[in-house]
Amino acid sequence: MKEALEQIRCTAKELIACAADEKAVDELRVRFLGKKGELTAILKQMGKLDAEERPVVGALANQVRADIEELIASRTSQLAQAALTARLAEEEIDVTLPGRLPARGGLHPFHLVLNDLKQIFLGMGFEVASGPEVELDHYNFEMLNMPKSHPARDTQDTFYITENILLRTQTSPMQIRTMEQQKAPIRIIAPGRVYRSDAVDATHSPLFHQIEGLVVDEGITFSDLKGTLEVFIQKLYGPETRVRFRPHHFPYTEPSAEMDMSCFKCGGKGCPLCKGEGWIEILGCGMVHPKVLENCGIDPERYSGYAFGMGLERITMMRYGIDDMRLLYENDLRFLKQFQ
Ligand code: PHE
Repeated sequence: MKEALEQIRCTAKELIACAADEKAVDELRVRFLGKKGELTAILKQMGKLDAEERPVVGALANQVRADIEELIASRTSQLAQAALTARLAEEEIDVTLPGRLPARGGLHPFHLVLNDLKQIFLGMGFEVASGPEVELDHYNFEMLNMPKSHPARDTQDTFYITENILLRTQTSPMQIRTMEQQKAPIRIIAPGRVYRSDAVDATHSPLFHQIEGLVVDEGITFSDLKGTLEVFIQKLYGPETRVRFRPHHFPYTEPSAEMDMSCFKCGGKGCPLCKGEGWIEILGCGMVHPKVLENCGIDPERYSGYAFGMGLERITMMRYGIDDMRLLYENDLRFLKQFQ
């Protein structure tokens, strides 16, 4: 029996030393020390021994058990240490690696165009003004020479909030607000959102954007208007672009005009984009009506001015050859990424 015990110790020592992982060690623990293990099997035969031999073998058996337990403990901690070392090696952080750049967004085409447009006007001495989108009827219509009964109101399907409060249908109320506050001289552009009760399609949206312009000073003439707007368009679309003015009517300018630019695609020969015309309508403008100046407390005998208003959507679509306005509002990343 002593021999059998020595044999167990010897085998256990060998096997535990080369157990590959903690699971293998545990299997060996069960094999040698478990209830149905080899050591237990021997202890069960102790009854067959003589009274003298029993304590000797018992002591040896306990010693073997203790030895095996120690072997297991040391192998287990060895394995744990090795596993930790391996993990640390694997998870080592290379602090010299360059960092990952965060994904970067880009400016919306509206902002790209608006930034250029602002630069052009700032370069000509204009300032940028802004005002409320929830506006008084007073500023949106009344002060612009459009009293309640005026037929021109019908051309702008207005979202009314109350009888006197509405969502501005144009940026023109910014003319009035600026003149009231600043008097003369004035040289501003006022970009912003405007609203009209239109159904959505390729060229309409109930929310869109306009850029208003207003210049008031002594001696301002229609030539100033023409020169400024021609330079503006040529800076935006290229020096070969031509402009033309057609008579028009707005209640708050006199005389009034619409400005066309030569089609940037065909250069004026006529193509599908300009519907064979060679010209593309780009903005409304005119000399500030004397009555409007007067409404704002500016002496029309001494001062004169011009104003213009254009749609940002149209200018942006022309600039990038976008044929459906909805693309500008849907924020589809596949579309927007093309402008980065
Ligand atoms: N407010 C006009 C529009 O919405 C544009 C305009 C602005 C015309 C200023 C003349 C002067 O169409």
